[in-house]
Parts: sequence; C-alpha cells; structure tokens
Amino acid sequence: METVKLHNGVEMPILGYGVYQVTPEECERCVTDALRVGYRLIDTAQAYFNEQQVGDAIRKSGIARGEIFLTTKIWITNGGEKKAMKSINESLLKLQTDYVDLLLIHQPFGDYYGTYRAMEAAYNDGKTRAIGVSNFYPDRFIDLAEHVKIKPMVNQVETHVFNQQFKAQEIMEKYGTRIMSWGPFAEGRNNMFHDPTLMKIGNEYGKTAAQVALRYLIQRGVIVIPKSTRMERMRQNMEVFDFTLADDDMSAIAALDEGKTLFFPHYDPEFVNFLLTLKAD
Ligand SMILES: NC(=O)c1ccc[n+]([C@@H]2O[C@H](COP(=O)([O-])OP(=O)(O)OC[C@H]3O[C@@H](n4cnc5c(N)ncnc54)[C@H](OP(=O)(O)O)[C@@H]3O)[C@@H](O)[C@H]2O)c1
Repeated sequence: METVKLHNGVEMPILGYGVYQVTPEECERCVTDALRVGYRLIDTAQAYFNEQQVGDAIRKSGIARGEIFLTTKIWITNGGEKKAMKSINESLLKLQTDYVDLLLIHQPFGDYYGTYRAMEAAYNDGKTRAIGVSNFYPDRFIDLAEHVKIKPMVNQVETHVFNQQFKAQEIMEKYGTRIMSWGPFAEGRNNMFHDPTLMKIGNEYGKTAAQVALRYLIQRGVIVIPKSTRMERMRQNMEVFDFTLADDDMSAIAALDEGKTLFFPHYDPEFVNFLLTLKAD
C-alpha cells in the first residue's frame, strides 16, 4: 500500500475504508471484510455510532494493532477541552485500543479550540499518533492553523471529481497539512459511476469509473477512504495501484470540477443550525 508522510513523520496509507452510514448491525462484518481484502486504514467517528463494532472487528481480526491505521472524529456536542478529553477516552474504550492513529475534529463548530487543545494533550500523552480537522474550509482552516501549537496533520474535506478542492489543498500544503477526501465517489451523485468522461478513460485502462475517480485523487496526493458494504466493491476500490493516468486524462478529469459542494453547505445558516441539533455517542 502506498503511504503519505504526515508532517510529524507518521506514515499513513493513502487509501482506506470509511464507515459512515454503515449501520452498527453491519459494521463488524464490513470492517472484517475490509481487513480481509487488505485495507489497513479504517475511518470512523463518534457520530457514526459504530466505533464499538469497528473495535470488535479489529480485535477479532488477529491483525497486529500496529499494522492498522485507525481514525476517529470528535463530534460538536463533545467539544470543549474537558468534554473532548472525556470523549477521547470513551472512543478509545469503544475502539478497544490504547491509541488511535489520527484524531480529527469532525466539524468547525462549537468550542473547537478547546477540543483542539484536548487533542494536543492526547497527542502528547500518546493517545493519538496524529491530529487534525475535518470540514475546515480555507477561512476556518487558516484561522485555526495560525493559532494552535501543533499544526493539523490532516484536513478531511469533501473531495471528489465534481468538487476537487484545488485551492483548499494548496492552502493546506502551506501548513504541511495533508488533504483527505471524504465522499470520494460523491456517494454516486451526478451519476458518477456512469460519468461519460470517467467511463471513457476507464475503458482505455480496463478500469471502472470508480477506480478512475480514486486513482485521479491518489495521483493528486489526496488520501481516499471509499465506503462500500460489498466485498467485491471493496476489492475493486483497492485495485487502483496498477495503472497511472496520463496527463491528458488528469486534465480531462480536472475539468469535471464544479467547485461547489454536492452535500453539506457549511456556509448555509440553516445547515449549521441543523448540524448543531445532532448528537453523537
Ligand atoms: N468528515 C466528514 O464529515 C465525512 C462526511 C462523509 C463521509 N466521510 C468519510 O468518508 C467515507 C466515504 O464517503 P461516503 O461513505 O460518504 O461515500 P463514497 O465513498 O463517496 O460513496 C459510497 C457509495 O458508493 C457506493 N459504492 C462504493 N464502491 C462502489 C463501486 N466500486 N461501484 C459502485 N458503487 C460503489 C456505495 O454503495 P455500497 O455500500 O452499496 O457498495 C455507497 O453508496 C465515509 O464512509 C466516511 O468515513 C466523512
């Protein structure tokens, strides 16, 4: 598996498996399958309500903890220094581990400066090997990165062929922060799995639109965590290291960018109000 090096020297797989919208009932089976297929990066969150099942699958897999890169995220309602510290310990209990590999602030709302201080303390105490943020778009990202002791190592943001985050990636790079994509398939929106450009390019390489979409992001240095509950798709989504997209194919895919979210408008007051009503474990 190819890796990327975070600014503290920690190596992280460039491709992993995400468990958003994987139900607690299905999650242990899905993570078990993903580990069998060969995934070694697992991305969960307090707000996915499946940390316990992720922990069960990892424990039962028999794979050494050190071989797995485990990410979780702190939800808004667990924000603030004291509450965040407590919630980090609760996440570790559910995940059945002494440390995670990457700890992120899930959303840029609430007392996230307090949360960040708790994460810095967890990092210094060895409870996480890296820290970062998620959904921090350039304005909030710059503000945070300028005012914290340990610069975020990762920023996980919506990134797919229709919302490519070129500018955001450039800004993150100035701070040594790696971009991690959520929704690398845009969850199939815009008919992504049948997009004519991706399918045409895929035909040239004997690959699916999904594989082309992932390969494109990987070639841009973007960490990807596609989700599937089906083992054959998990496998397909990993088979993206045996081909390289040519420059003209990269340019054709770059042209698919619409430069806007297909999901969560973080600048829309109604959406922010909605997010603030959500609770996590
Ligand atoms: N930080 C955040 O705020 C945030 C937000 C969203 C997501 N995430 C993270 O990012 C991960 C991935 O994003 P996502 O789950 O939203 O969506 P995604 O990975 O873009 O798309 C998942 C969808 O694509 C389907 N799919 C997967 N592989 C396929 C293939 N090869 N061919 C056809 N269909 C395929 C899946 O269906 P099946 O399951 O039926 O195969 C599912 O409906 C999440 O699981 C989570 O870890 C983070």
